[in-house]
Amino acid sequence: MERLDKILASQGVGTRSEVRKLIWSGRVAVDGEICRAIDSKWEPTAHDITVSGTPICYRRHLYIMMNKPDGVVSASNDSHVETVIDILPPDLRRKGLFPVGRLDKDTTGLLLITDDGAFAHSVTSPGKKVFKTYRVSLDGALSEEDAEVLRRGVMIDGNEQCLPAQVAVLDEERYIYEIRICEGKFHQVKRMAQAVGRRVTALERTAVGALTLDSSLARGQARELTEAEKRLPLSDGEDVALSRT
Ligand code: URA
Repeated sequence: MERLDKILASQGVGTRSEVRKLIWSGRVAVDGEICRAIDSKWEPTAHDITVSGTPICYRRHLYIMMNKPDGVVSASNDSHVETVIDILPPDLRRKGLFPVGRLDKDTTGLLLITDDGAFAHSVTSPGKKVFKTYRVSLDGALSEEDAEVLRRGVMIDGNEQCLPAQVAVLDEERYIYEIRICEGKFHQVKRMAQAVGRRVTALERTAVGALTLDSSLARGQARELTEAEKRLPLSDGEDVALSRT
């Protein structure tokens, strides 16, 4: 059971003081009855709560897929640069959201955003074997020997050992490759390429586990994961999937 004002604030209806005003002014109903008691307690999944007649559609946690654009940082807040949280559409904003792992400012593609810390940990922890798939454009061809070095697990900057990666050729003429890794070291794909004498010219994340970037999402757009997407296995090893709340 949670306080009515807390439930509404947690769902992004407004700040705590804004939702209190809504409640006092009689715009909030529980199971069809106007409720003006801000401190009344309810089980949000068991009652129909409406604001000005619109149901709040309670979700304990949000799971968002964004097609991250170039030029935006993967952080919750930054006083100088626009963040992925700043560009969320108003209906997906709520307190406590953060990106699951980081993509570089110039990396585009699939970024998960949530307010579920346990889920984020299960996706980013290398031990969970959640593979992240990247479409990698290089400044030249990757030889079969270099691909093998990456597959075995390349040493970057002479002292950081990477876990084995999966490498496939997507477009030989345009030097585009698919690289799958299950860890997230700083600038990892770029540094892996560097370790075999190549430079990344464009980097896009296309999948996290079996969850693939929705190609109908334009750069900068975001949407909630569907129920089917929430059931997808994210891990090649242990069973990592989204919570079902
Ligand atoms: N590897 C990188 O180098 N950059 C990213 O943004 C993600 C993986």
